[in-house]
Amino acid sequence: MLLKVNHVYKSYGNKRVLFDNNLEVDHGEIHGLVGKNGAGKTTLVKIISGVLTDYEGDVLFNDKNINHLSVIERQQEGIYVVPQHAAIIPEFSIAENIFLGTWPRDRLGQVNWKELYENAAKALAEYGLSYDPAMKGKKLSLVEQRKLNIVRALFSKAKLVILDEPTTALSAEERDSLFDFIEELRKEGTSFILISHYLEEILKLCDTITVNRDGQCYTGYKKGEVDEETLSTLIVGKNIELSSRPEEERMKNKEPLLVCENISGKGMQGISFKAGKGEVLGLVGFPGSGARELARALSGLHPVSAGRIKLNGSEIPTPKNPAQAVRQRIIYVSYDRHKEGVVQLLSIKKNISLSILESSLKRMFGFIDERQEDKNAREYFEKLNILAASVNEAVGQLSGGNQQKVVLSKALSCQPEVLILDEPTVGIDVKSREEILALIHELTKVRGLSVLYLTNDYNELLRIADRLLFFDRGKVVTERANLNLTTDEVIRIRDEAKEGEAS
Ligand SMILES: Nc1ncnc2c1ncn2[C@@H]1O[C@H](COP(=O)(O)OP(=O)(O)OP(=O)(O)O)[C@@H](O)[C@H]1O
Ligand SMILES: [Mg+2]
Repeated sequence: MLLKVNHVYKSYGNKRVLFDNNLEVDHGEIHGLVGKNGAGKTTLVKIISGVLTDYEGDVLFNDKNINHLSVIERQQEGIYVVPQHAAIIPEFSIAENIFLGTWPRDRLGQVNWKELYENAAKALAEYGLSYDPAMKGKKLSLVEQRKLNIVRALFSKAKLVILDEPTTALSAEERDSLFDFIEELRKEGTSFILISHYLEEILKLCDTITVNRDGQCYTGYKKGEVDEETLSTLIVGKNIELSSRPEEERMKNKEPLLVCENISGKGMQGISFKAGKGEVLGLVGFPGSGARELARALSGLHPVSAGRIKLNGSEIPTPKNPAQAVRQRIIYVSYDRHKEGVVQLLSIKKNISLSILESSLKRMFGFIDERQEDKNAREYFEKLNILAASVNEAVGQLSGGNQQKVVLSKALSCQPEVLILDEPTVGIDVKSREEILALIHELTKVRGLSVLYLTNDYNELLRIADRLLFFDRGKVVTERANLNLTTDEVIRIRDEAKEGEAS
């Protein structure tokens, strides 16, 4: 056995997180670790990798107890973690980032830069990444950073690579290429622990699965023994109901709320469309197609050079910054919560009320109405089932998925008229995903807000969207009502739109 976790217990203060956890990973095994947001997956991983040292129980690697070893020492033994949140050093080059801590040195201890850059180029090429090894890390997008982290783990000669939600925000194609890569390395004997909320990929890839529920490990489920439904029941502890938007809702003729005419700017070549009151519009397109550019432009995060926006029948100026967009009640939820989502050190309550401080929470004299702030935060805290002791807990102490829920709460409490959701369920567990979809449905129905929805998960998109807009070359090229559409058809229409470009 390569890894053994024996009777591990862990508490944060008096909050017990892990209770008698046991699991084993064999040589060349891909081991899935699943569980609800806040179940303790990342905590367990931190114990295995040595980031957390104050736990009870034993971690054995190659039959040796490694409890006393530090993170670096465990890395030298061959344990490597790709963390949930991309960890790269912005000012370092890509090459320096890939081989962080293991830069090749000559006999005098000087870094051999030539070798470093050559090795980096080789590593990147092998993974099919075409970045310049000399480019600064900070120039990479979120997805690129994530890939770089994975490459880094894979080329550090790890025996056990732990991937904490590696595929969030990756496209289906990028996912497949990552999985091929994992399979290759597994054949050479590398073992993996894979954490993911996408049960489909867990079931496809993993030989053995461990479910973490209420701090306890239920381990040893073998490939082929469980299906998606059983697995989600194991995770949640009971059956979950899939939320779906009723067909009559999708068919309804909705009066226009948001009208965009010829929006142009970088990556946008005259985007025109209407979004109805209470309508959920899915935006589909490859990166650079204009879909995300539009989403960010409407939110004041991407410059607009021409075009008109009408809201409720009257023209509004194109927002120059997010604050202006918020005042116009256009709210954006970014897929990159670490850059644009939450302030880690502030409490849940403060985070939720951050963007409404200017408006409803401020009384006439400029004080913040504490009671209102509390009430408001509590409403979403409860609606989205955020797992924390109270609304006063710091966001940085929450699990990844629960932080994402805070981001959503923050957006919803601004009382948006237009809500722009960019991968809103990234890192969200199976049950919470259904709750969020149901909440979006409810909000469009009751409050009549328009939703623009971006996601790589077309399955999810088809369950919530009324209509899909397909983007290419900075324009809307096709639109489809979401009636009897399948994910394969969405992919086909998207690819056809792209092919039209070549001819
Ligand atoms: N530094 C910390 N201080 C206090 N509590 C913490 C800290 N880090 C995590 N926790 C708590 O430990 C519990 C488990 O968190 P963990 O991050 O392991 O969950 P997870 O299973 O990885 O969830 P997710 O799927 O959302 O990433 C959560 O209740 C979380 O709030
Ligand atoms: Mg986690």
